[in-house]
Amino acid sequence: MGILIKNGTVVNAHQTLSADVYCDADKITAIGKDLEVPAGTQIIDADGKLVMPGGIDPHTHFELLFMGTVSRDDFFSGTAAGLAGGTTTTIDMCIPDPGQSLLEGVSVWKQRAEKAAADYSFHVAVSSWSTRVSEEMGEVVKTHGIPSFKHFMAYKGAYMVDDEAMLHSFARARELGAIVNVHCENGDAVAYLQADLLRRGVTGPEGHPLSRPIEVEAEATNRVISIAQITKTPLYIVHVSCKEALEAVSRARLSGQKVYAEALGAHLTIDDSVYKSADFDEAAGFVMSPPFRSKGHCQALWNGLQAGHIQVVASDHVTFNKEQKRMGRDNFAAIPNGTGGIEDRMSLVWDGGVRRGLLSPEEFVAVTSANAAKIYNMWPRKGLVAPGADADIVVWDPHASKTISAKTHNHATDFSIFEGRTVTGIPSATVARGRIAYLNGQLRAERGAGRLVKRYAFGVAYAANHA
Ligand code: URP
Ligand code: ZN
Ligand code: ZN
Repeated sequence: MGILIKNGTVVNAHQTLSADVYCDADKITAIGKDLEVPAGTQIIDADGKLVMPGGIDPHTHFELLFMGTVSRDDFFSGTAAGLAGGTTTTIDMCIPDPGQSLLEGVSVWKQRAEKAAADYSFHVAVSSWSTRVSEEMGEVVKTHGIPSFKHFMAYKGAYMVDDEAMLHSFARARELGAIVNVHCENGDAVAYLQADLLRRGVTGPEGHPLSRPIEVEAEATNRVISIAQITKTPLYIVHVSCKEALEAVSRARLSGQKVYAEALGAHLTIDDSVYKSADFDEAAGFVMSPPFRSKGHCQALWNGLQAGHIQVVASDHVTFNKEQKRMGRDNFAAIPNGTGGIEDRMSLVWDGGVRRGLLSPEEFVAVTSANAAKIYNMWPRKGLVAPGADADIVVWDPHASKTISAKTHNHATDFSIFEGRTVTGIPSATVARGRIAYLNGQLRAERGAGRLVKRYAFGVAYAANHA
């Protein structure tokens, strides 16, 4: 049964027009006025609403074993929450254990993702270097359709990679037509500062931002940009949180280097005052890395989005409940790092960006969907409302509001870092793979409805990857 989305305004990153959209099975097949559709077609009335490409969140961690515990949202609950917020595709970080085969990692992640309610892909983390890793990177790209590799410059003793490994991995990625993405924090400096703070008796969550100051992020960002320049590899920096790191990105871009930057919905809207709470649960809930910064940095990120120096807003969705956060009751360095946000990501950008006049609706589509599709080689299958594209669509009500709360969210956690925040601009319907997965507040996510999206490498023709 097809779906006709009627009377809406279609907004793509490049164009806005008044038109109806028809989806036949899992593809968009027609856009226009007075479309003739078969009897039995499901109708979504989008009068007064915007019809946009489903969101793409290219930075999630579902069911991640991290800091001694497993994050709460799995591929089902995480992608379902995404659908409730208008996101129809995620790219999750596949992080093999250090020393574990990359291919084993991919196979574990593929198995976990079988329950996904919406389409997905992976980035594969490289945390050490060897000839086996080099060979497996080739397989990851060519056989599995995953042309992006993640590197952590932080989390010493766990996923942190050194410069030598990054040089090799970046050079190999370039050879394969892949992009690298990097968590930029100097892990040695973080470990040094954590030990120093603990020695001085700072054990509460307030120690978290003190152990990860701006310099830690700025140094790593500048360093990784130089490494990518040496190997001539396209670079995507995840969760840029501060002005200094953004300036490093802007300088590199202006000098002609292929560097992309991602901001998180949370870093755009939450500042570091949250760590001052005397209530452990309250402050620990905000422990994530890089930490929340002072208000001036939030504004710098909005400026970066406006200027086009930040291309993507992601969530870095990794949820822990209060009990898990209490693992760090006596030691802030043991509080599992991570916060939720996949469900709220698009509304936060609309509310803070479009409603305040900082971004146009087309720019909203770019930073929440189309740019990620292009950077990660899924475009025009994803990130576009056009005949031939996947039937992944969000019908957006720019005037409706909701107040975010753990009582009503679809995340599998017992708190929300956005508790009590009212946002204007929310989905009224989400269509994923040609199914109505969310309609007027009712989530109809189906376990296993999502599929792995094979992506193509740079320099390889789109058609050759989709034959
Ligand atoms: O604190 C965070 N961001 N946790 C998830 C892992 C990462 O660094 O992206
Ligand atoms: Zn990270
Ligand atoms: Zn992350």
